[in-house]
Amino acid sequence: MKSSNEVAEWRQTSSFIAEPKVYGRDHDKENIVQFLLTQARDCEFLSVYPIVGLGGVGKTTLAQLVYNDHRLKSNIFHTKIWVCVSEDFSVKRILCSIIESITREKCDALDLDVIQRKVQELLQSKRYLLVLDDVWNKNQELEFGLNQEKWNKLKSVLSYGSKGSCCLVSTRDEVVASIMGTCHTHHLSGLSENECWLLFKQYAFGHGREEQVELVEIGKEIAKKCGGLPLAAQALGGLMRSRSGEKEWLEIKESR
Ligand SMILES: Nc1ncnc2c1ncn2[C@@H]1O[C@H](COP(=O)(O)OP(=O)(O)OP(=O)(O)O)[C@@H](O)[C@H]1O
Ligand SMILES: [Mg+2]
Repeated sequence: MKSSNEVAEWRQTSSFIAEPKVYGRDHDKENIVQFLLTQARDCEFLSVYPIVGLGGVGKTTLAQLVYNDHRLKSNIFHTKIWVCVSEDFSVKRILCSIIESITREKCDALDLDVIQRKVQELLQSKRYLLVLDDVWNKNQELEFGLNQEKWNKLKSVLSYGSKGSCCLVSTRDEVVASIMGTCHTHHLSGLSENECWLLFKQYAFGHGREEQVELVEIGKEIAKKCGGLPLAAQALGGLMRSRSGEKEWLEIKESR
């Protein structure tokens, strides 16, 4: 696989929350915000906080909730930066994204040293929150993922920020957290059956549309099939939206 160095558009994420309603993440969000406001703030070194969980469990959504929390205002973090990393952990691209996010100008520099110096200047004496969303580990199948050498290169520059700075990382892979050398990992579990049902229902019946009583019990059984994954609840809910007959719902309920 050749590295294109660019994240495919459909995989790109941003700090904006696209989901109209986020279910069941108050507790997770609170833990992370409190970490940022207390432990990270008192830490002499850059804190790294990984959120680890299955694909589609809601890691990016949780990171967005934290990023946009009203308590993390400019007197807490001078700068907030969101970088969508994806499979290719390119140190240069990540540094350029940081430059572009802070300066709002295109980063044209080609030389790593120049780019590193620029980021050092921009981060120096600033307390920042950096989200590295969707980080992958280098392994046999994935040539361009994160490894120790790349992390050390990036961290050497990130460490120029002020005390209290934090790097929030979302990843499916536990190895990423160990490469980054963090002492704490936030394991994100799936939604409860009820939360999954509420999300499924929102997609299946839509806003403002009357929910059909005869479909509710069947729907709850279908929602259980999602195994707590919001991505699955959305997809199955969306699928059921165009199927309003009880028979069709029963077919999906019975299917494996
Ligand atoms: N708590 C939630 N309530 C409602 N919708 C949610 C919730 N969490 C996630 N979603 C929705 O589910 C989908 C998948 O979530 P998200 O992209 O955050 O998962 P992820 O864990 O980051 O997945 P990946 O490993 O592929 O990056 C998104 O469309 C998101 O809007
Ligand atoms: Mg994600």
